[in-house]
Amino acid sequence: MDTTSSGKRREFDYSRREFSRVQKLIHARVGIHLGDNKQEMVYSRLARRLRATGIRSVGVYLDQLDDPDHPEWQQFINALTTNLTAFFRESHHFDTLQTHLKTHFRNQNRIRIWCCAASTGEEPYSIAMTAIEALGSARQGIEVIATDVDTRALETASAAMYDLDRVAKLPKAFLKRFFLRGVGKNQGRVRLKNEVRNLVTFQHVNLLDRNWPLEEPVDFIFCRNVFIYFENQTQAALLKRFHSLLNEKGLFFAGHSESLISGGDLFKSLGKTVFSPVRSR
Ligand SMILES: C[S@@+](CC[C@H](N)C(=O)[O-])C[C@H]1O[C@@H](n2cnc3c(N)ncnc32)[C@H](O)[C@@H]1O
Repeated sequence: MDTTSSGKRREFDYSRREFSRVQKLIHARVGIHLGDNKQEMVYSRLARRLRATGIRSVGVYLDQLDDPDHPEWQQFINALTTNLTAFFRESHHFDTLQTHLKTHFRNQNRIRIWCCAASTGEEPYSIAMTAIEALGSARQGIEVIATDVDTRALETASAAMYDLDRVAKLPKAFLKRFFLRGVGKNQGRVRLKNEVRNLVTFQHVNLLDRNWPLEEPVDFIFCRNVFIYFENQTQAALLKRFHSLLNEKGLFFAGHSESLISGGDLFKSLGKTVFSPVRSR
C-alpha cells in the first residue's frame, strides 16, 4: 500500500508515475493541463472511480484507457473536470449581452448563443434569462446552445434544479419571475421555469473535437473559465475556429482571467474580457 507525502497510508497504489500517466491522458483527450500540484486532487477524484469499479490500483484502472473507446473514458473525464460556476457569474457580461441584444439584434429573426463550457447549467440559464429580459418573453427564435465535455454536469444542467443557496444572491423579484420553488421531496430547491428552459438545448461537445455540431453563424460565444486549463497553442487554435463561426456583429465573452493574448489580431477587446471579431484581415 502506498503513502501520501504526509506519510498517511493510501487505500490504492498511486505514485508520481500514475499521476504523469493521468496528466498525459487527460491532456491528449480534452486539452486540460493538470499542473504538478494536482497530484493529490487527482488521487482523491480517481479513488472514487476505483471504489465504484472495484479496481484495486490506479495503474490497472488507467490500463483500461489504452482503449480509446472504453466506456470508463467518459467517467475519467467527468472525474477530472472542475465545474465551478454560478448564476450571473461576472455579472457585467450579462449587462453587456443585454445592451448588445437590444441595440443590434432586436430585428434579427434568429439569435444563436453558444455557451461552450456550460458546466451544470447556471451560465446558459443566466444567458437565457438575460435574453428574455432584453427582448421580452414573447420573442421567438432565441437559441442558447449549451455544451460541455462533462456528461454528468450536463445531466445536472438539463434537470434545471438547484439548491436554494445557489440562487440566494438573486433579487427576489427575479427569482419569482424565472424560478419555481420545489415542494415535497424538492423542498429547499428551485427549478427554472419552462419559459427559460425552452430556450436552452444541451449537447456533449469536446472543444478539441475536429468538428463541432453547430450551425454557422453564431451570434455570441461564451467561453468562460475553461481556457485557463488549456495551453496557449490550444487556445490559439480554438480562437481561430471561434472567430470563423462568429457573426461579425456578435461578441465573444472570455473568463475574468482570460485576456486572449494568443487571440492576437482576430479579436478586438471591448474591455472587461468582452471581445468583438475583427474582420478586415
Ligand atoms: C470552471 S468550469 C466553467 C463553467 C462556466 N463557463 C463558468 O464560467 O462559470 C469549466 C468547464 O469546462 C469544461 N471543459 C473542460 N475541458 C473541456 C473541453 N475540452 N471541451 C468542453 N468543455 C470542457 C468542464 O467540464 C467544466 O464544466
